[in-house]
Amino acid sequence: MFGRKKSVLPDPSLFPKHIAVIMDGNGRWATRRALPRSAGHSAGSENFRKISRYCRDIGIERLTVYAFSTENFKRPADEVEALMALMSRYLDEAIADLAHENVRLGFIGQREGLSAELLEKMDRVGDISKGCDGISVNIALNYGGRDELVSAARSLAKKAASGELDPEDITEDTLSSELFTAGQHDPDLVIRTGAEKRLSNFLLWQSAYAELYFTDTLWPDFSTGELDRAIAWFSTRKRRFGDVK
Ligand code: FPP
Repeated sequence: MFGRKKSVLPDPSLFPKHIAVIMDGNGRWATRRALPRSAGHSAGSENFRKISRYCRDIGIERLTVYAFSTENFKRPADEVEALMALMSRYLDEAIADLAHENVRLGFIGQREGLSAELLEKMDRVGDISKGCDGISVNIALNYGGRDELVSAARSLAKKAASGELDPEDITEDTLSSELFTAGQHDPDLVIRTGAEKRLSNFLLWQSAYAELYFTDTLWPDFSTGELDRAIAWFSTRKRRFGDVK
């Protein structure tokens, strides 16, 4: 039809079930416009809203986004404050809209270190989400992949020491069940915007067999059209999970 772009999306049976995104490049997006870095994070947060709604609309089951790593606490205090204020505003909106948007919103990461106000809002969001059955969205907040694995190891060690668990019975499944993502399907596709090609401590265990899509596009500019292209690229990958077929 005139003026409408043809979608490159493949058949939905070939979609990734779970997409994870490292939303990098907010700071550079702002600097290029002579704006403070916090303006880049605001634009990034708007784009997160747009992309999560789009994922829901096309039928993606789960989206996980890296909003704040444990290491991000090393940033200047005003930037940390701006990110936390942004998250707090987003949670206020989520509390008002989630049920109507039919999004199950959850969090992965350490609660310790987050403010009581933020934790209270996260818990309210969790309660509202119980009544939704649309897309599941994980926000990684105060999250670090190594930290998550250390916590899992500590928990298994405690169970072994108390006799609740025989160390010989520890399997990949037992370890997975100690992670923040317990019971969730691993990400099939990990997207990183902002030109860097690394995982930066994101979902280290869970991404073992994920397809990795790197793009130079800065996160606030990452469009639904580019997401379509990433999904189309994913659908052409032959996933062998270590096998030869
Ligand atoms: C990396 O860009 C991005 C972050 C550390 C924060 C990501 C957060 C958002 C997109 C806002 C999320 C908000 C909600 C509500 C989920 P950078 O600052 O490292 O950019 P740079 O590499 O260009 O400096």
